[in-house]
Amino acid sequence: MNRLYAISGVTGMTGNELVRQILVEGSKDHILGFDNFYASSIETVSDHIGDIRFEFFHYDLNNDDQMFDFESRVGALAPEYDEVVYINCAAVVHTEHFYHVYETFDTNVLGMKSFMEQAIRVGAQKYINCSTSEVYSMNSWNEQGGVKESDYLTMAVAEHSQRTSYATGKLLTEFFMKDAVDEGRIKGCSIRFANVYSKDEKYPKHIIPYIINSFRDNGKVVLLENSRNNRRTFLNNYDSCSAVLALVYTDSALDGTVYNVATDEEISIIDLTKLCADKMGIKNPVIEFSGYRESDPERRLLSTEKIRTRTNWRPAVNLAKGLDECISNYLKE
Ligand SMILES: NC(=O)c1ccc[n+]([C@@H]2O[C@H](COP(=O)([O-])OP(=O)(O)OC[C@H]3O[C@@H](n4cnc5c(N)ncnc54)[C@H](O)[C@@H]3O)[C@@H](O)[C@H]2O)c1
Repeated sequence: MNRLYAISGVTGMTGNELVRQILVEGSKDHILGFDNFYASSIETVSDHIGDIRFEFFHYDLNNDDQMFDFESRVGALAPEYDEVVYINCAAVVHTEHFYHVYETFDTNVLGMKSFMEQAIRVGAQKYINCSTSEVYSMNSWNEQGGVKESDYLTMAVAEHSQRTSYATGKLLTEFFMKDAVDEGRIKGCSIRFANVYSKDEKYPKHIIPYIINSFRDNGKVVLLENSRNNRRTFLNNYDSCSAVLALVYTDSALDGTVYNVATDEEISIIDLTKLCADKMGIKNPVIEFSGYRESDPERRLLSTEKIRTRTNWRPAVNLAKGLDECISNYLKE
């Protein structure tokens, strides 16, 4: 089966790895992708610039004229392919941006909705909605081996922090997705990723590149006070993307519902910092604490039983291997 993919946010951490995993040698798939470079650059897809199977547009999800042009291009190519798949990766993501409620609403909520309506208009068969484990907010773990998609959500409130606007917006997109599938307009699902990282992350906004870059540049790491207690799992972007594709390939899984995608390798932020130091050859790492983040759960542990049962997806990159790749790549730069 030959697929035509339409990917928003294609130069971001998830989008650029999707390009690599879709356009493997011999693949007859084709990608139309765009990004406004809000948090990325064209370098992330440099290995596929010049590949006739990949067309990139410097477009903004919120620009009607650009989206009209993008839709026309997808529509023109669609008849040549067995299936058209939309994947919405564009979003206002990094931690510091969680607090920007207007941008978050425009891109993550309205943008997701109009991109899905575009997919339906061009007759796409599938739409993958990237949501987030942030929706679990203060109930991000339980004693039974991780929080499930069917568990009740308890969001932090506006009095605590604007941060939850990111999670609230993403949660609303899950309802758009569910409604579209229930109404028979398209197949699709939402994916709740937890703490994705990549060896190619350009901006040290996430904790892993932040730790490695801090040791390299300052010889020490300054962590938030929350880090004295916080524990997290980390998902390599190779695995987040293989999960997206496992779902794309499994029609029966595209029932409009939600899938957790994460690992169960939980580590405290302090141990993560020490592990990075150890791998960088730093004997007595200096760790300082400053600042505090409201509405930050102490643990975030997701059950991935649902995706493992319904698809053949399993994470392939453990934390030790993923960190080795990050360290060798960041230090090279
Ligand atoms: N990284 C994580 O830990 C994580 C966790 C949970 C969910 N997610 C979700 O996964 C998806 C992909 O995230 P990512 O990790 O690749 O983040 P990313 O920031 O690396 O990629 C998002 C991309 O969207 C682009 N973008 C932002 N606004 C845009 C706009 N208006 N028009 C066009 N492009 C725009 C950015 O420039 C960036 O390249 C997002 O929906 C995100 O919310 C990510």
